[in-house]
Amino acid sequence: MSKDAIKKQVRAAFDHRVAVRIYNDQDISKEDMEYILDTAWLSPSSIGLEGWRFVVLGRKQIAKHRKALKVLAWGAQSQLDTTSHLVLLLAEKNVRYDSESVKESLLRRGISQGENLDMRLNLYKTFQEENMKIADNPRAVWDWAAKQTYIAMGNMMTAASMIGIDSCPIEGFDYDKVNAYLAEAGIINSEKESIASMISFGYRLKDPKHPRSRKPRQEVITWLE
Ligand SMILES: Cc1cc2nc3c(=O)[nH]c(=O)nc-3n(C[C@H](O)[C@H](O)[C@H](O)COP(=O)(O)O)c2cc1C
Repeated sequence: MSKDAIKKQVRAAFDHRVAVRIYNDQDISKEDMEYILDTAWLSPSSIGLEGWRFVVLGRKQIAKHRKALKVLAWGAQSQLDTTSHLVLLLAEKNVRYDSESVKESLLRRGISQGENLDMRLNLYKTFQEENMKIADNPRAVWDWAAKQTYIAMGNMMTAASMIGIDSCPIEGFDYDKVNAYLAEAGIINSEKESIASMISFGYRLKDPKHPRSRKPRQEVITWLE
């Protein structure tokens, strides 16, 4: 396929994607969900941490948790009624330069034990202590880990749109209560992880009433040449 044809296809996927909150009853196939999830799995993350987990709920699981989640998630009211799949984006808690998971991520990337590894860990210590100022802001570490999951979120939504699957990102919920519920239900390990966001996936029932609105392009894109 030519570069122009690929650009057109990607642009068409961006034009097609809108936040879809009401879906028809068509199920997304397992194969298509796995394709979407591959793009989460393969997404990049800061320092290659991959401090995330993506939990997929199909219709049966959604039915099981719908009532409880609707009470806690004001932003997912209609999505929870009709979505084919709900993906929970979880981020690792308390990721510090001296956490085992940071060391593991370096070893996974081929940085060997010894001087190289120690040098990197020292760099991450400076990054967290001096750049992120984690001592003054205990939330900074969580926010940093959670931010990484939004890269996967964007990739999943684009990948879905490219094959005609609609989605809606969701962060309108009570984080503490949803975390407590998911831990109680055995879905998350609250010692290690918390929810950052959710995405509903399905096929739109109808096109949105309102046209997509965006600020003028020149207002948000600046070239310095
Ligand atoms: C991180 C994020 C969180 C969002 N949370 C919610 C939500 O909780 N409930 C909802 O209905 N829409 C949610 N949205 C959808 C936005 O309202 C929507 O993307 C925005 O209005 C732009 O419209 P468009 O996606 O149709 O282009 C969220 C979007 C993003 C990117």
